[in-house]
Amino acid sequence: MTNTLKNDLILRAARGERVERVPVWLMRQAGRILPEYRAVRAKLSGFIELVSTPELAAEVTIQPVDHLDVDAAIIFSDILVIPEAMGLPYEMVEKRGPYFPETVSSEKDIQKLKVADVASDLGYVIEAIKLTKKELNGRVPLIGFAGAPFTLFCYMVEGSGSKTFSKARRMLYQAPELAHSLLQKITDSTIQYLKAQIAAGADLVQVFDSWAGILPPAHYEEFSMKYIAQICDAIDEVPITVFAKGAFFAREAMGKLDCRTIGLDWNMDIRESRQLIGPDKTLQGNLDPCALYAPDAEIVKATQSMLDQFGFQKHIANLGHGVYPDINPEKVKVFVNTVKEYSARCVEE
Ligand code: CP3
Repeated sequence: MTNTLKNDLILRAARGERVERVPVWLMRQAGRILPEYRAVRAKLSGFIELVSTPELAAEVTIQPVDHLDVDAAIIFSDILVIPEAMGLPYEMVEKRGPYFPETVSSEKDIQKLKVADVASDLGYVIEAIKLTKKELNGRVPLIGFAGAPFTLFCYMVEGSGSKTFSKARRMLYQAPELAHSLLQKITDSTIQYLKAQIAAGADLVQVFDSWAGILPPAHYEEFSMKYIAQICDAIDEVPITVFAKGAFFAREAMGKLDCRTIGLDWNMDIRESRQLIGPDKTLQGNLDPCALYAPDAEIVKATQSMLDQFGFQKHIANLGHGVYPDINPEKVKVFVNTVKEYSARCVEE
């Protein structure tokens, strides 16, 4: 599949091969920033209907490739499809975010959950990937993804988003063995899920540990990194990216994961991160998402400065977290075009 790609920059960058310019995409590029997305979404009962209808998921996956000119598509789905497939359904409450009517708090709750059966419970994502690959017709690579076990654990125990996730973190102190058994079940589900995404055509996969930053370093090692390492060890078919938001304290350890790319958030100094992580890995990121509120000339300056610091090879340009829904797509284009033009010029020199 890979060899029929017309633009494989992101794959070459991920593998550490030389590129003629820096590839660029945005986390959360498929979504509310695009009027075309909002138009599709408005016709439906809700977010979950969009996620579970392969034809529509494929359509909104490709929208940013058409309208923002990014170098990769990311399959339109959510990290919360895994808890659902394990037996813990979620709702997406308009303007508030995810909500789990039932949560996990006891051994019995964990026993009731199953390891996700991808074929029977996540077939709609697999179908969406196959359709997207067909419709993309090799224009750009397709990124598959999953939530990191710890981030999914947070939602499954807490039941919704939270500033502190103190209910979820309480379990790490009061019943660590229970937490481990849930984390292992999520990990086993995730490995199968990512392998199925790859078999269906995902060219690269990313693990999102959005809540890494709320853990103290020792807990991060024990309750998150350990499971991410299992996933990295199990996936060898395509390059894998680990994005652990806020885990500045774990950068050196992340350099030792069996993955190709490490995502940086915008609080992480680029040169310091390169030193801590080492020369081998590709780095992804990390412009402040709020920089896209700035006047165009400032966006250009900030993007060029970011590119200079990353050094044009072994870099996949992105923001330091998902793009905010109220960002003007024209500003995204300024970012994308600056990455393309400036990096092409600098690589040449
Ligand atoms: O473009 C893409 O990146 C692909 C699609 C994607 C979505 N969610 C669609 C979505 C991806 C990769 C995700 C991952 C995801 N989901 C994460 C990890 C990345 C991150 O941002 O840290 C997390 C933590 C979630 C859980 C989640 N889903 C939350 C907290 C919310 C509500 C907040 C919000 O943005 O509204 C969602 C909903 C969601 N997932 C939307 C989209 C486009 C918005 C809902 C809508 O369109 O109605």
